[in-house]
Amino acid sequence: MKLKTPKIGIIGGTGYENFSLIKKWQTKAIRTRYGEVQVKTGKFGDKVVIFLARHGFKYNHAPHHINYHANIAALRKEGVNYIITTSAVGSMNPQMEPGDLVLISDFIDFTKHRRNTFYGRKPIYTDMSHAYDPRLREKIKEATQSLNVKLHPEAVYVCTEGPRFETPAEIRMFQRMGADVVGMTYVPEVVLAAEVGIPYAALALVTNMAAGISPKRLSAEEVFEMMRKKGAIITKIFGRLIETL
Ligand code: HPA
Repeated sequence: MKLKTPKIGIIGGTGYENFSLIKKWQTKAIRTRYGEVQVKTGKFGDKVVIFLARHGFKYNHAPHHINYHANIAALRKEGVNYIITTSAVGSMNPQMEPGDLVLISDFIDFTKHRRNTFYGRKPIYTDMSHAYDPRLREKIKEATQSLNVKLHPEAVYVCTEGPRFETPAEIRMFQRMGADVVGMTYVPEVVLAAEVGIPYAALALVTNMAAGISPKRLSAEEVFEMMRKKGAIITKIFGRLIETL
């Protein structure tokens, strides 16, 4: 019996608004009870890929105003079997330097004003022991190795509310808590994916050292610039990964 070919959802973050291994895309608006989401769909080999720009294709949603519920509900409605994602992160671990790729293994939630569940008031508790799918992570590691790209295979991510960057004191606190990298967007995205049971993984790019460690003022330009430089490597890894799914 031939198994159904999987559908893959890709969520791209700041500066990663295209999966360039696919040339022919169809744009599509997906209606969900949480709102409408624009996606692009295309074929990569025999696999269907649904690409979603986390901040919108016009980069018009700040991290704290992203409609995470609609995004995950849309991918679910499309029937994706996996969600692979990327984003820019700042690093507070001296081993993880700007330009490095990190495979997120766990998270600490410092968001403040976000709805963080699909379940509303229903007392439904979701296990977060393996929020980032171990099998998908293993496959990303293999794809990265096969391309000879350096990867930090474990990284604890702290999610802040944004849109401001962190203070140096906050970064010192996060370091003591065991975090490696910081960003503003994987929560509640990863949580919602877990609630609907879609395996989710995050391959992040370190775009800067975090506040108080970086000698420079933090800026969005620096983040975009690094993503422009390194986005093609993420695309290659995702391509190799999708072939194996
Ligand atoms: N902090 C929060 N989010 C980020 C950073 C940072 O330093 N770099 C890229 N995204």
